[in-house]
Amino acid sequence: MQVLVTGGAGFIGGNFIHESLKAHPEDTLICVDKLTYAGNMETLMSVMEHKNFHFEKADIADANVIRPIFNKYRPDFVINFAAESHVDRSIDHPGVFLETNIIGTQVLLDASREYEVSRYHQVSTDEVYGDLPLDRPDLFFTEETLLHTSSPYSASKAGADLLCLAYARTYKMPITISRCSNNYGPYHFPEKLIPLMIINAMTDKFLPVYGKGENIRDWLYVIDHCRAIDLIVRNGVSGEVYNIGGHNERRNIDVVKAILRQIGKPESLIRYVTDRPGHDLRYAIDPAKISKQLGWLPETNFEDGLAKTIRWYQDNRVWWKNVLNGKYSEYYHKIYENR
Ligand code: NAD
Ligand code: DAU
Repeated sequence: MQVLVTGGAGFIGGNFIHESLKAHPEDTLICVDKLTYAGNMETLMSVMEHKNFHFEKADIADANVIRPIFNKYRPDFVINFAAESHVDRSIDHPGVFLETNIIGTQVLLDASREYEVSRYHQVSTDEVYGDLPLDRPDLFFTEETLLHTSSPYSASKAGADLLCLAYARTYKMPITISRCSNNYGPYHFPEKLIPLMIINAMTDKFLPVYGKGENIRDWLYVIDHCRAIDLIVRNGVSGEVYNIGGHNERRNIDVVKAILRQIGKPESLIRYVTDRPGHDLRYAIDPAKISKQLGWLPETNFEDGLAKTIRWYQDNRVWWKNVLNGKYSEYYHKIYENR
């Protein structure tokens, strides 16, 4: 199979490429990535010379470069990970989220239609469902939950999902969508909660917790997410949406304290800072459909996954130090100084 993966220099796409080259040595993987601030070639360094791997630096929203790439590789499967993915950045600069997440998806769908790919898979998020109240632990997001977004990021992801469903119906295209909860693991860009807190704890910087730290996220180890996507692409039913999550809800403050405990740093490093505008309260996925229909179950529990993740950041200082030395440091100071 020729598998075209967009956003493979990012966190989840990068992990997916490493896993796929191991799980499907007969496949050829083509990574298309614009290399934004979140794209990192060091994530792909160990596979660049792999005989079944090709890299194309390109913007998914630019049809003039995407069509020739489809023409060159004639992909069987297209898996769209590429996105602007950080909620805080979408609050400051929504425009690029619409351009990449919506227009980029449309360009990929058009190319997939023209070149008759046998499966287009859209990597979406549980954030398209909005949030759940903190005092109703009995409520979960199912695939039937109405889309109800809170941030420019989630609105752009929901727009892309609707476009995918429209193309599936109108053009009868073989499209699937997955909506996953929060991921964590190796190669996670340090603007996101878990890697940010690990690195700050390791370097004795303050740990900025938004509001009271009571918001709840449903954490999944990234490799479990990658396995689920692989299953959906190969065995999922066209036109269907699959939620992915492992029933692993934690309050942010508890995640932060667990990181401090494992690294052996004091809770006095925690600093409560101004809340995120429109901050979603709770995410919680009901993964019954993918479990029953495709036999997927998460394999890594949170304690093991967090320990593995912390170890990865301890063992791969060059990877994150290069990120921190780049343009990201300007962003960090702008977001957290005087917050
Ligand atoms: P990320 O920000 O780490 O990586 C995004 C990648 O996309 C980067 O390599 C970047 O260079 C690339 N990219 C951005 N704009 C592009 C463009 N216009 N053209 C080509 N490439 C472009 O993101 P991530 O956390 O790996 O998320 C991957 C996907 O999974 C996203 O679609 C996101 O919405 C979704 N998702 C993420 C999570 C999570 O917890 N991180 C959970 C559920 C779903
Ligand atoms: O649920 C899936 C989504 O998870 C994905 O679609 C997004 O791409 C991904 O970024 C993630 O979104 P969140 O907004 O939940 O992740 P983030 O790591 O930014 O924040 C997690 C929680 O931690 C959230 O409640 C905000 C809080 N937080 C975050 C940061 C960066 C803090 O308290 N302090 C921080 O410094």
